[in-house]
Amino acid sequence: MTPRRIAVLGAGGFIGSHLAPALAERFGCEIDAVDVTFEKLTTADARVHRHEARIEDAGVAEEVTRRASVVVSLTALCNPSLYSTKPLEVIDANFTHLLPLVRLCTERQVRLIHFSTAEVYGRRALDSAGEPTLEMNEDDSCSVLGPVHRERWTYACAKQLMERVIWAHGQHHGLDFSIVRPFNTIGPRMDYLPGIDGEGTPRVLACFINQLLRGEPLKLVAGGHQRRAFMDVADMVEAVCRILERPAACRGQILNLGNPANEVSIAELGRLLSRELTAFLPLARPPRFEDVSAADFYGEGYDDTEQRVPDITKARRLLSWEPRVGLKQMLPNILKDYVERYAGRVVGPTSPFPIAQGLVA
Ligand code: NAD
Ligand code: UGA
Repeated sequence: MTPRRIAVLGAGGFIGSHLAPALAERFGCEIDAVDVTFEKLTTADARVHRHEARIEDAGVAEEVTRRASVVVSLTALCNPSLYSTKPLEVIDANFTHLLPLVRLCTERQVRLIHFSTAEVYGRRALDSAGEPTLEMNEDDSCSVLGPVHRERWTYACAKQLMERVIWAHGQHHGLDFSIVRPFNTIGPRMDYLPGIDGEGTPRVLACFINQLLRGEPLKLVAGGHQRRAFMDVADMVEAVCRILERPAACRGQILNLGNPANEVSIAELGRLLSRELTAFLPLARPPRFEDVSAADFYGEGYDDTEQRVPDITKARRLLSWEPRVGLKQMLPNILKDYVERYAGRVVGPTSPFPIAQGLVA
């Protein structure tokens, strides 16, 4: 089943920049790549057409749904430091601005593959009877968001409401959709380094790499005991390709995509990254850790998920898919990318770079 033309919204972002060229390659079709920035989308594939636009701008959703037979929607503000500092922008980006797109997909019978998030499960995994479970399941788990004054949950709430809108269009108006709930997907090109190509606080991977490259202590929010299951972006790309290949099986389905085998504490992630960095920069300093309170790090209104592990039974069954890349296996490739991109730009009295420039391939 080959799509006629695929629109990838948010193609200039981390996952989009991996996905757009892979879709062109896999399906041999034209790709409309929409974003406000394309620095990360470096492919020279002529089938990938860049359109610099905001999805909410007049006529953009109309044009996208007029041309494409499948829309993959990734646009979002999805950085936790924004959820409690720019909550209205987060709600608009993850909900309000996408409403016309969903309506147009329904009206024009365009297939929609929408990226939601594992954050819709909220603080912890509970089954439908309210009993604790280890894994989060698409069709059984509750959504346990914190109180409204905990603005952390603006993102999860906006994403969940968007899921419900899409679900209702599917149930009652014939929208052909699949919803993806990614669990902490990481890889080359994720986020930015503060003060170099972005401001504020990125997600934990870029935070830790930034601190390691500057020779600064790794900040562990609330001790770094929180646990996440990290998946390599290559496994995500393969799963999304299979969703495209299996429209009948995936129609109307919500799918967890993550790697339960890669579950670690955040402190352990920091230690692993540091160990791997030494392979590239043998003179890199040993890591130092600093405990910080969530309020000091993110501000009031932050809240957290203690443990987030996906149940991927459904994805395995519908996609004949298995995430393959182990955490230790993926880290060298990720670090190589950051070291190569930022080596000349990270400076500081304790940065490993001034003494290790020659060691970077
Ligand atoms: P990202 O921030 O790297 O990519 C999002 C892209 O969307 C950015 O390039 C941004 O410029 C673009 N964008 C935002 N608003 C836009 C608008 N109004 N118009 C046009 N472009 C706009 O994020 P990512 O990690 O690649 O995530 C992609 C999707 O997956 C998001 O929907 C996110 O919520 C979801 N997700 C990601 C993860 C993860 O671990 N990476 C986990 C859960 C959910
Ligand atoms: C993330 C983001 O919300 C989304 O990108 C995504 O939708 C979601 O994961 C998901 O996978 O569903 P989270 O895992 O909480 O949420 O965000 P990270 O920035 O990756 O932080 C992970 C943990 O590390 C959090 O407990 C955070 O408090 C902690 N952290 C973060 C630190 O201890 N130190 C840091 O420097 C940064």
